[in-house]
Amino acid sequence: MPKQIHLAAHFPGVNNTTVWSDPAAGSHIAFESFRHFAQTAERAKFDFLFLAEGLRLREQGGKIYDLDVVGRPDNVSILMAMAAVTERIGLAGTVNSTFNEPLDVARKLASLDHLSGGRAAWNVVTSWDEFTGENFRRGGYLPKDKRYLRAQEFLETAKALWDAWDVDEVLADAASGRYLRHGDAGRFEVHSDQFDITGRFATPRSPQGHPVIIQAGDSEEGREFAAASADAIFTRHAELEAGKEFYADVKGRLAKFGRRHEDLKILPAATFVLGATEEEAAENARQVQYQQVGPQTAIAFAEQIWNRDLSDVDPDGPVPSFDPKTEDDVDSGAHISKGRASVRMYKDPVAIANEWRELGEREGLSLREVVIRKNGRHTFVGTPQRVADTIDEFVQSDASDGFVLVPHVTPGGLDVFADEVVPLLQEKGSFRTEYEGTTLREHLGLQPSPTTTARAEARA
Ligand SMILES: Cc1cc2nc3c(=O)[nH]c(=O)nc-3n(C[C@H](O)[C@H](O)[C@H](O)COP(=O)(O)O)c2cc1C
Repeated sequence: MPKQIHLAAHFPGVNNTTVWSDPAAGSHIAFESFRHFAQTAERAKFDFLFLAEGLRLREQGGKIYDLDVVGRPDNVSILMAMAAVTERIGLAGTVNSTFNEPLDVARKLASLDHLSGGRAAWNVVTSWDEFTGENFRRGGYLPKDKRYLRAQEFLETAKALWDAWDVDEVLADAASGRYLRHGDAGRFEVHSDQFDITGRFATPRSPQGHPVIIQAGDSEEGREFAAASADAIFTRHAELEAGKEFYADVKGRLAKFGRRHEDLKILPAATFVLGATEEEAAENARQVQYQQVGPQTAIAFAEQIWNRDLSDVDPDGPVPSFDPKTEDDVDSGAHISKGRASVRMYKDPVAIANEWRELGEREGLSLREVVIRKNGRHTFVGTPQRVADTIDEFVQSDASDGFVLVPHVTPGGLDVFADEVVPLLQEKGSFRTEYEGTTLREHLGLQPSPTTTARAEARA
């Protein structure tokens, strides 16, 4: 039996990969769009539906960045609605640990787990920027070591809350008139660096006990956090060699936390463009790239590197001959682009500008064409057979345990993958033809949460 592939569907989002201007695109906020997308993913027997989160609208040059989709309803609310129109698929939402309180988040996720019959997952993100922090009363942000300390303690606190009810606590025995079995339901006490809370948690233990925990940070701290505590990692490493390296690195950290290789699933984000022939797929991919990087988006991307207004630069002309600003404005919050994580990766903007210029000159490419070449690559391009073969090769060679697929059109972009690629993966025997379990933990092949809590053991 080949290693089994895990697939998730990422509702198209607020990045330029999502082509909202495509005639086939629908609403990005209407119930109907989420329903179509979630039901397609479930029809294809995907492990889970995934929602990203942005807590503040992005800005560039002091204005709202509206070349991409802007705005999204709250994730847990969307997933609650999806629980009502799906039966098996997992429901994963990104929820920030820097700007929320553990009790609120634990309660919402336990509620989602109840209402969906054990399908809830939480992508724990820390965010990184003061700009987002300004939205919240506590203000500002935490330095990275504190953010991950808080994330770790936040998660431990959430688990303490989920464990505050014994599995069999609700007795509801009409004959004796007793509702609770032990009578000490919900009691918790947490004293840590970031939290100091005691009380009673009001939501009974949910079907999964602990909803599935996903992590998406890529820093050293993020990888340690994932190895210590996450059930799955959502990553950007979707190239075969880089994927293998990341996979080995993170899986190699598990043993020191007393965890097994299979306790953490590694799922890179991946885009795809299909065609009846390789040539047709390549041509479709080219067209999508030009939709994703229009003239204004090309300028906006260049501004993020040059860190200055480039509105008078011609996107169809050469890469600017002058150099980017070199002051490091990213951490001080003075950067032209606000609320966008990728700007942190441009550590040496002058080197990037040189690279872009050399590529442009060598191949006679315009600024827009260079941006497409550098930022517009699709993960999988080809016939359905080629794409199925590539996905399977990735997973069988331990470059990942599967993928989080991000189509470029909302909400119908996943349909073709469901209809044409999934059956080929099923033929290979590396992807399920039916759901075997009912909970997301079961779909992902994860161990169930402990059914006896420390409290129950202490009582016994
Ligand atoms: C593939 C991927 C997807 C992410 N999605 C989100 C998201 O939807 N919302 C968010 O606030 N942060 C998101 N992040 C950011 C991180 O989870 C993390 O909080 C941030 O990068 C800071 O942590 P770091 O310093 O470890 O990178 C994502 C990161 C990656 C790699």
